[in-house]
Amino acid sequence: MNTSVVLITGALSGIGRATAIAFAMKGARVVVSGRRDEIGHKLAAELRELGAEAEYCHADIRHEADIRELLDKTVARFGRLDVAVNNAATEGLGGLVTEQSAESYAATFDTNVLATLLSMKHELRVMLPQRSGSIVNVSSAYGRVGAPGASVYVASKHAVEGMTKAAALEVAESGVRINVVAPGTTDTGMLTRFTHSDETKAALVSTVPFKRLATPEEIAHVIVFVASTDASYMTGASVAVDGGMLAD
Ligand SMILES: NC(=O)c1ccc[n+]([C@@H]2O[C@H](COP(=O)([O-])OP(=O)(O)OC[C@H]3O[C@@H](n4cnc5c(N)ncnc54)[C@H](OP(=O)(O)O)[C@@H]3O)[C@@H](O)[C@H]2O)c1
Repeated sequence: MNTSVVLITGALSGIGRATAIAFAMKGARVVVSGRRDEIGHKLAAELRELGAEAEYCHADIRHEADIRELLDKTVARFGRLDVAVNNAATEGLGGLVTEQSAESYAATFDTNVLATLLSMKHELRVMLPQRSGSIVNVSSAYGRVGAPGASVYVASKHAVEGMTKAAALEVAESGVRINVVAPGTTDTGMLTRFTHSDETKAALVSTVPFKRLATPEEIAHVIVFVASTDASYMTGASVAVDGGMLAD
């Protein structure tokens, strides 16, 4: 039984939800966070039905005060933090570079980049004195390659990859590991919003070597592995889970 204390942002849907369930099934103590309180409380109850200790904490990760409170509540409830999965993100507004604005940039970067940075800051506030912990930042295959019409999202995920490496090096001797999991096309609400139509989604899938979407569970299982002590010699790494997309 793995009784690690695990915090997941953006846990109420898609990959975050699948990750919460995967950790709960391994016996972890899980804090799920998000913005939709009714769904969050229902998810925590579902995790408890699986036998896990679980809490929901409201946090809009664009606000540092929410992140600080999320970490403080996690430690108040469970006394420590072993794993943090910084998963919450937005696909942003999309569109060509020529259509972007300071506002569309900020709307994506505040959630995907600033919030990941501030989440790591407050997670390390807990983990460094423990001299142990594992942070997994969820990036994207688009953190490695470009995609037309998604420049701001692509840039934000490249930023997540870069800051993960820098942070991992800063704390390499501390006992805390920081890595990235980079999903490819995964069957979630974000992909549906990103592709706008079934035709565009099918066209995107046809470019994936596997010719299918990942399930959220297929990404979650890799997140659980990278977070675990089975990956104890891994830090500053980016693990793609992309059906061969980046190999093509
Ligand atoms: N699906 C894919 O094909 C794909 C591919 C590569 C990478 N990813 C990455 O995988 C991660 C999970 O995405 P997903 O596909 O599972 O999509 P999703 O179901 O839309 O999950 C994203 C979650 O983030 C939450 N979130 C967004 N802004 C937030 C904020 N300011 N504060 C708190 N929570 C916030 C959302 O909550 P609300 O409902 O309240 O907005 C939602 O629960 C993201 O980092 C995404 O970039 C996904």
